[in-house]
Amino acid sequence: MQRREFNRARDSAAYLQLAEVIFPPLPDRHLDSLAAGSEIEGGLAMQTTFEKYSDGRTLYGDDFSPDQLEAWYRDEQEGYYNLGHLESGKYGYHALNWRHGFRHVSQSQFNHVLGMGSAFGDELQPILNRVKKVTLVDPSDGFANSQFEYVKPKASGLLPFPDSTFDLVTCFNVLHHIPNVSTVVREMARCMKPGGWMLLREPTIPLGNWDYPRFGRTPRERGIPLLLMPQIALAAGLRIVNQRRYFFSLVPRLQQLLPKNHNQVYNLRWFTALDDYFCELPIWTRQYDVAGFFKRFRPWAVSMVLRKPA
Ligand SMILES: C[S@@+](CC[C@H](N)C(=O)[O-])C[C@H]1O[C@@H](n2cnc3c(N)ncnc32)[C@H](O)[C@@H]1O
Repeated sequence: MQRREFNRARDSAAYLQLAEVIFPPLPDRHLDSLAAGSEIEGGLAMQTTFEKYSDGRTLYGDDFSPDQLEAWYRDEQEGYYNLGHLESGKYGYHALNWRHGFRHVSQSQFNHVLGMGSAFGDELQPILNRVKKVTLVDPSDGFANSQFEYVKPKASGLLPFPDSTFDLVTCFNVLHHIPNVSTVVREMARCMKPGGWMLLREPTIPLGNWDYPRFGRTPRERGIPLLLMPQIALAAGLRIVNQRRYFFSLVPRLQQLLPKNHNQVYNLRWFTALDDYFCELPIWTRQYDVAGFFKRFRPWAVSMVLRKPA
């Protein structure tokens, strides 16, 4: 009996050690970072909400008041730029955008493209030769590229464009930085021409407990539950042409092991295809927040090709 207890304790210690190697704990629960969090504007509004939204049935931020939207917007305005993850001209997701987005867009020419949260606009470089006009919406002053015309978003999420303006909208990894996602998707759909396309990519995991400051993250970002993504698109009047999960949870570890100039795995078509097939296996959980070691092995994001009915 004692021996069995001993074996069980030894096995679970080994199991925890393995978990720590593969998923080292983020330093977000440390007291000093908690103290730093109190300096974030609106930081208090973020506290104690994670538990309530961790089942992924509703989206944190989607029902915010105008004041709460303003506070979130200010926190995120330069949030991603300040992380220093992006360098102009060095974009790591071209094969991913091609596989999950651009190859589904059959049109050869686009009159007007909206790049929502496109930073330096690098995501659009592969299709620029078939685009007449590009408008980028991004709140950051840091991201500036004289090649493009920029428009600042509003905290309300309303877009300053007439109905039926764009025949293509790209929105890659942006909505999780925005509180009222339903409003923003509805606005982008309103600004699309009938028959126009929207290409979306978003993380579908919480990205850590947002009640606390998280290392390497912007103050407010949080993933969007997988089950809510189609609901939000359909409620905006869009048709889902394609939906795939991607970014298997071990990919960041793999990237760390590769030399810096080879770790842009989503610029490789073969790797992106492998990730695609692996992530679409029907064995991975679709839950938002997960407890348990094995459930952590799962795709972290979803991509969607959406179309406005003609
Ligand atoms: C993770 S980056 C993605 C950048 C680029 N789309 C890409 O694929 O690399 C998120 C972008 O969203 C922008 N952003 C943050 N809040 C926004 C808002 N309210 N409206 C539009 N863009 C926003 C950030 O400035 C940043 O450029």
